[in-house]
Amino acid sequence: MKILTVIGARPQFVKAGMVSRAILKSNSKTRHVLEERICHTGQHYDTNMSDVFFDEMNIPKPHYKLGIGGGGHGEMTGRQLEKIERILLDDKPDGVLVYGDTNSTLAGALAASKLHIPVFHVEAGLRSFNRNMPEEINRVLTDHVSEILFSPTLLAKKHLIREGICENRIKVVGDVMYDAAKFYASKARKPEWFDELSVEVNDFVLCTIHRAENTDDIERLRSIFRGLQRCGKPIILPLHPRTKGLIENLNLEMSNIHIVDPVGYLEMLWLEVNCNLVATDSGGVQKEAFFQGKPCITMRGETEWVELVDAGVNILVGADENEIVNAISSDRWNSIQGDFYGNGNTAEKIVNIILASLIGVTQ
Ligand code: UD1
Ligand code: UDP
Repeated sequence: MKILTVIGARPQFVKAGMVSRAILKSNSKTRHVLEERICHTGQHYDTNMSDVFFDEMNIPKPHYKLGIGGGGHGEMTGRQLEKIERILLDDKPDGVLVYGDTNSTLAGALAASKLHIPVFHVEAGLRSFNRNMPEEINRVLTDHVSEILFSPTLLAKKHLIREGICENRIKVVGDVMYDAAKFYASKARKPEWFDELSVEVNDFVLCTIHRAENTDDIERLRSIFRGLQRCGKPIILPLHPRTKGLIENLNLEMSNIHIVDPVGYLEMLWLEVNCNLVATDSGGVQKEAFFQGKPCITMRGETEWVELVDAGVNILVGADENEIVNAISSDRWNSIQGDFYGNGNTAEKIVNIILASLIGVTQ
């Protein structure tokens, strides 16, 4: 049996890397071999946004590299759709595997479903209930054309059922990002530049900013940077290229903010382990803060990972300068514990379910 994995953006490399490893492990143990081919759409293309993950995480080299990044949403998704359809017609996989909620996810899911090829969606059922987010559109549409929906949590499953998706197609399996955090725990690597920053271990805020809602609105972006600057704590900010381009001409005050290039997963892990707080608008980094026992402030109005907010270990601050300062300075955090995302064998479960589905066995 053959499956085509369609990925294109940084968080998808982390997730798919764990599942590729589980596929290889399964192939060495069972007589039902799942041949995986990877299609990299090219949505992320800088070395430190793409190649570094394939190298560090031993992700199999993509069979197909489409080289389609940048441009508007319609343009990017449309061009990817056209190329993926061609691959599917030529390669005839038995299933297509997609992750998360990016334009690459939607392109892969749409191309496959139109050709009646079953779509397997990892991270199904997450909702922000904010249709202004491109990701919300991508995930809703992908869920509704998917054959098997792998939900990380029970709440995600509830969202899908409320939208009329048949319960037996939804599998609550946990979160592959937790698998990755566990698998790579002992391999975290200190960035070479860290010792040059005069920042102490356990005494800095690790920050990431890339969401369209923050970067496309210059006033929100200014307000976030004012909050980060006013809090006075040392901040390490591996900056997404999207945001880097935008702040260049804003004349922001950044005496306590150390901007560095995006780092690979192993260095990011080290920074998460060694910071004292995370401030982010990323989906994945919110969870990774939790995995590493760090409080998180989320610079958005809502989050898909509501269990972290309910547990009092993640605070939503939007782009409000004062809320950012107050939250970073707060010392009233709940103890960071909870069993929300499975036990680290999600990738294995996903592979077993895909295999069972493709060979027609009920799971
Ligand atoms: C995308 C996803 C978002 C995800 C994020 C992960 C969509 C709609 N958004 O957002 O859900 O959280 O990836 O990081 O799919 N750029 C570079 N080099 C790169 C990649 C991007 O310079 O390697 C720049 C380009 O100017 C590009 C811009 O960043 O146009 C935005 O990239 P894009 O992939 O469209 O969106 P992200 O913000 O990365
Ligand atoms: N990440 C990384 N280097 C960075 C920033 C993020 O390796 O400089 C990793 C992070 O550890 C997580 C994933 O990228 O595994 C999250 O991706 P991102 O924040 O870009 O996207 P989102 O999760 O918001 O979709």
